[in-house]
Amino acid sequence: MKVGIIGSGGREHALCLSIKQSSKVEKIYCFPGNAGTSEIAQNVEIDLSDFNKIKEYSITNEINLLIVGPEKPLVDGIVDFFNDSGINIFGPDKISSQLEGSKIFTKKICEDYKIPTAKFGIFGNSSQAISFLDNAQFPLVVKADGLASGKGVYICENKASAEIGIKEIFNGKFGIAKDILIEEFLDGEEMSYFIVSDGKKIKSFETAQDHKRVLEGDKGANTGGMGAYSPSRLINPTLEEKILNKIIKPTIQALRDMGSNYKGFLYAGLMIVKGEPYLIEYNVRMGDPECQTILPKLKTDLLEIIEACCQEKLKDLKIEWHDKKSLCIVLCSKGYPDKYNNEVLIDNIEKLSLTKNDFIYHAGTKKIENKIYSNGGRVINFVSLSSNFKKSRDKALELINSLDWSGGFFRKDIGHKVIDE
Ligand code: AMP
Ligand code: GLY
Repeated sequence: MKVGIIGSGGREHALCLSIKQSSKVEKIYCFPGNAGTSEIAQNVEIDLSDFNKIKEYSITNEINLLIVGPEKPLVDGIVDFFNDSGINIFGPDKISSQLEGSKIFTKKICEDYKIPTAKFGIFGNSSQAISFLDNAQFPLVVKADGLASGKGVYICENKASAEIGIKEIFNGKFGIAKDILIEEFLDGEEMSYFIVSDGKKIKSFETAQDHKRVLEGDKGANTGGMGAYSPSRLINPTLEEKILNKIIKPTIQALRDMGSNYKGFLYAGLMIVKGEPYLIEYNVRMGDPECQTILPKLKTDLLEIIEACCQEKLKDLKIEWHDKKSLCIVLCSKGYPDKYNNEVLIDNIEKLSLTKNDFIYHAGTKKIENKIYSNGGRVINFVSLSSNFKKSRDKALELINSLDWSGGFFRKDIGHKVIDE
């Protein structure tokens, strides 16, 4: 089978490496991929918004299956676009992708299907939103409706900071804003819960916790993710049942009622408050770096899982996992998430010695004349699996330190809640 993977980050390198292990794979293409994927797949330089080009290339090269990593093409309807192409494409359609494409769409589902979430209001202009603040309780959360690469969320301690958020959003910082969401601040502990779905049946696809803030102690600006660990310390059978019955299943039913059968990975960002799960947000894909953290634990052939989803046969497949603690540390370019330099040479990477429990996934990297250079804010993911999180973190740190890349920085405290507390 020939497989195409859409995307260029650490998540896509991890998908690529897992798919590569399947005996059913003949060749992998990555659109556009990175230096890591180029070692095991053919990178194809195509603008991801040009669905026609991706389709033409896939037909010419007889690609049988496309796996979509990032949210943007999903929200823009790439799955619907491939509907009559004869090529299987793994990911949710345009209706279902609204779960990530519009936070207000998701909130309305929560309201209609009684899914636990933070109380909220929707406002159509800034004066309406600002006057609501007069009688509001702080902290509260101001959110842009659409895709904002994780940046359209303001946790506000007072009226002044909420006003800044409201104005920035309505002034178009995250694209044209018709409406804005203001919600209650939930005080609890976060966790991410993943499922995979074939449109008929859903199966759990592990839990994780990421660290979004740039500085140690979970301080500083939000990033795409500085590291993660799996499983979450919060998960237990009672909580899992609540997550499935109160949140995931009603959501899948809501989409079905709209005429969309959810196919693909679904990532629920949750806040757990006194043992009760509340939905914060959905992502219609695997997380990054959660994907890199979770996939090394997967025992079952990933391609078999995805094929079963395409054929609506997930019911018949048992998904098995290694009982290990996985921890991922992201090596970033100095300056990220603000300004940083690209094309900084990364040498020594091939000299690192990995055991079967260590994994290196490229993200923002590219090859120039057989040398590896940085090409983005998040550059390389170091993942290690072991019997406890401390050992996993020590090993990931040892690998990063032995790479000793002068262009980078990383957080040394990933997993502090499960290691140090
Ligand atoms: P989101 O992009 O919606 O996941 O929001 C980014 C981060 O903001 C989340 O991971 C939470 O840490 C935080 N957050 C979002 N909504 C809330 C809320 N209602 N209460 C508390 N924290 C929140
Ligand atoms: N790690 C957060 C995300 O993938 O959106």
